[in-house]
Amino acid sequence: MPDVNMQVELAGVTLKNPVVVASGTFGFGREYSQFYDLGELGGICAKGLTLHPRNGNPAPRIAETPMGILNSVGLENPGVDAFIKEELPFLRGEGLPYKKRFETKIIANISGNTPEEYGIMCEKLAEAGVDMIEVNISCPNVKAGGLAYGTRPELAAEVTETAKKHAGGVPVMVKLSPNVTDITEIARAVEGAGADALSLINTLRGMRIDVNTRRPVLKMNTGGLSGPAVLPVAVRMVWEAAQAVKLPILGMGGVSKGTDAAQLMLAGASAVAVGTALFADPFAPLKVRDELAGLAARQGLASVSELTGGVRPW
Ligand SMILES: Cc1cc2nc3c(=O)[nH]c(=O)nc-3n(C[C@H](O)[C@H](O)[C@H](O)COP(=O)(O)O)c2cc1C
Repeated sequence: MPDVNMQVELAGVTLKNPVVVASGTFGFGREYSQFYDLGELGGICAKGLTLHPRNGNPAPRIAETPMGILNSVGLENPGVDAFIKEELPFLRGEGLPYKKRFETKIIANISGNTPEEYGIMCEKLAEAGVDMIEVNISCPNVKAGGLAYGTRPELAAEVTETAKKHAGGVPVMVKLSPNVTDITEIARAVEGAGADALSLINTLRGMRIDVNTRRPVLKMNTGGLSGPAVLPVAVRMVWEAAQAVKLPILGMGGVSKGTDAAQLMLAGASAVAVGTALFADPFAPLKVRDELAGLAARQGLASVSELTGGVRPW
């Protein structure tokens, strides 16, 4: 089979292949680096960061569901400063006998309580030299009574604008929440506010109840659904967003196979992220990459990027 060019562009950043790992499912790469060279990945969306360290929510905070999981981890993380001081150098391969061990792109993922917090984190991360900043807007806006930024176009736009202003030229990718009636409304607002790319989808709100104890299975009662069960929702939302805006899209939600990734790309994604599949198989992103390359080769494509937006709707 002829070689397929696997390189793709996402908001001006060149990824060696279109498969990145999703935020919150890969930590900061340390555990996974024991399995393979992280430089095999197109990119790494690091675990979600907040301005200050967070312990996250009480356990149980992960539960299995048919073809998926519910989580209410609640952004447990060491804070943006600890990431810059301890985790980013590791991801950059500094201190190793040979430089730049991990030839991959580092995408920091941030969550804030206020637009100001997003701005401060963007400044710090831009100065630290990450390749891209993924702005998670599935976070409660403390000032607006806990309403999630990602559910209101004007709030999503405000966060995007602030992030952009403080990111010093580092591309800003805004991660959309699927828990909305019309994803195109939010996508347009974020584009209008200057975002460089979109990523979607984050998790879908869900709940499981133990019928014997009558207690919700998660201590927080509800959580976010991810895994293969959400793939069709992700494909639909990427398709809708791709038609509404010109921004490049990082598609995610339920990817565990090459054909899953291809569906998201045909719907309009330039690259894809693998999340929950990592919990069953740490090698999932490499498997997805190789299967995607095989699929593109069988279809006679010179470049995998030819899949992007290639769906032929009825
Ligand atoms: C345990 C867990 C933690 C997550 N943490 C974050 C996070 O910190 N920031 C974020 O933007 N998304 C987070 N997500 C969402 C994923 O990045 C991804 O958008 C979602 O899980 C859908 O992809 P998947 O079905 O491949 O997992 C998390 C998901 C899981 C399962």
